[in-house]
Amino acid sequence: MNTKRLSDTMEKALSDQMNKEIAASHTFLSYGIWADDKGYKGIANFLYRHAQEERNHSIKFMEYVLNRGGKPKVNAIPAPPKDPESLTECFDGVFKHEVDNTTSIYKIVDLSFEEKDWATWNFMQWFVQEQIEEETLAMNLIDDLKIAGGDRATDESLFTLDKTLEKAKDDAPLAQEATGANP
Ligand code: FEO
Repeated sequence: MNTKRLSDTMEKALSDQMNKEIAASHTFLSYGIWADDKGYKGIANFLYRHAQEERNHSIKFMEYVLNRGGKPKVNAIPAPPKDPESLTECFDGVFKHEVDNTTSIYKIVDLSFEEKDWATWNFMQWFVQEQIEEETLAMNLIDDLKIAGGDRATDESLFTLDKTLEKAKDDAPLAQEATGANP
């Protein structure tokens, strides 16, 4: 008996997304190594943690496909982009990566809507929320660097930024969670 509860198209879309999350993990790992090598230990630590988070996302897709009777397929991982030339390029790259990923997540939401696959639609809402957080986090990186002076930042302000990011939270507070008492 066929127990698969996903269409073939949906199974492939979710499996492809599992692979995209692994690729994102590699990209952030590569950026982390670049930052580490440049001496930005705190920024590297932040990027390594983010790489791990992307891997966790990948596992979520894997488990969901398996739980729905499908079988995800692990593909070759594309090479990460070349090393950034500066911290600005690095943080811009993180933001661009997140926006691209959001586009891919939205495509799966669209597909679930078209197929009236409400289980997948519901599963995907966690990722819709997560992408808001991740985009906010990436925007905050860009803002923090801008405040520190961007590519003309002094060693002292970069030192402070590096220390701050080492301890930065992995999640950004969201507008949905704000209240009058806790804006
Ligand atoms: Fe898994 Fe950064 O999205």
